[in-house]
Amino acid sequence: MKYDGKINLLLLLIGYCLLTSLISSGDSSLEYDYYRESCPQSLHVIRSTLRRIYDRNSTVAPAILRLVFHDCFVQGCDASVLLDRTVFMGSEKDTLPNQSLKAFDHIDLIKSELENVCPGVVSCADLLVVAARESVVLAGGPYYPVHTGRKDSDHSYPEISYELPSPLDDLPTTIARFASRGFTEKETVTLLGAHSTGMIHCKFFERRLYKFGGTDQPDPSMDPEFAELLRSVCNNNQTQAHSSSAAPSASPSASPSSPTTGSSSKTGEERSMKMDYEGRGSSFGILYYQGLLQGKGIMFVDQQLTAGEETANWVRQYASDVSMFHRDFAQVMMKLSSIQVLTGQNGEVRTNCREVTSSLW
Ligand code: HEM
Repeated sequence: MKYDGKINLLLLLIGYCLLTSLISSGDSSLEYDYYRESCPQSLHVIRSTLRRIYDRNSTVAPAILRLVFHDCFVQGCDASVLLDRTVFMGSEKDTLPNQSLKAFDHIDLIKSELENVCPGVVSCADLLVVAARESVVLAGGPYYPVHTGRKDSDHSYPEISYELPSPLDDLPTTIARFASRGFTEKETVTLLGAHSTGMIHCKFFERRLYKFGGTDQPDPSMDPEFAELLRSVCNNNQTQAHSSSAAPSASPSASPSSPTTGSSSKTGEERSMKMDYEGRGSSFGILYYQGLLQGKGIMFVDQQLTAGEETANWVRQYASDVSMFHRDFAQVMMKLSSIQVLTGQNGEVRTNCREVTSSLW
């Protein structure tokens, strides 16, 4: 009897540890509500400032969600992506994979509100993961708890930015890139569900529309009517001119001005397609996965999720079960938000997210 009781206690403890490790996604040095004493208003300030910006400009939500991915994938969630270039240090912002990132000015605004209430307390890395969580909710996705206590890096890692996945990657490359950051095939499929919201510029998919892979034909994995729609959005002449160019390059960011697509008054470089071009449903994710099953993935990298047995299986499951996707997306965002964080004495709290605080330069 006594022995049974001990086993039960042990099972309970193991269960608790498993649950905690699931919630903290493997990083026990982050805490729930880390700022409860040093800055109890911090979450409210981040949330309310973001919502105020969002009411004027809803593109901020997808932009911040993308930003957190580009931060956490490169040397962990340390806000290194926010650092500006200096004479002594290059910036991740200037590298090709990051050149269409947006929302840096919105992050500055949230940070200045935080500095007004608690100077030098809340890190930019925590600001970013909390704002990304709020952005997911604003985009119709699931709420998930984020632990806090991250510190900011005093360094930018432009060279590591080139490890970010490319829109032109095939499935094995994508799986390998995400595996290098500890994500499984299933989690890779789940993470890409973030492409349920926001905009995508034509230059990132135009090569699929005409002379794909050295042929004279569009990408055969694309639904022909969908390819036609994308061609009409991106403007034939401009697109053909660009289709022979090298890898996708930088361009000014564009904001959506039509309910279904980017504005036709924009130049070819600026034209873009809404990820949720069929209209924003209440179910973040479902249109993305259903679209993939119909050959309507906008980027090659997205459509490739249907090219592998295991990944296609998850695409099918998510297309038919949005609650399952939301649960998995919440979990994988918690994991993404905890990659290689700096805590305790490691790192610093920047007062301006663009500049290293402890720097001598
Ligand atoms: C194979 C991996 C991925 C690739 C190659 C990729 C690439 C891209 C590209 C090229 C764009 C369009 C940017 C533009 O036109 O300005 C984009 C947009 C976006 N990406 Fe990804 N991405 C990937 C994974 C992710 C992940 C894991 C997330 C978040 C968890 C994410 C979130 C977003 C969001 C929200 C947008 C819309 C941004 C906006 O409207 O401002 N992406 N992505």
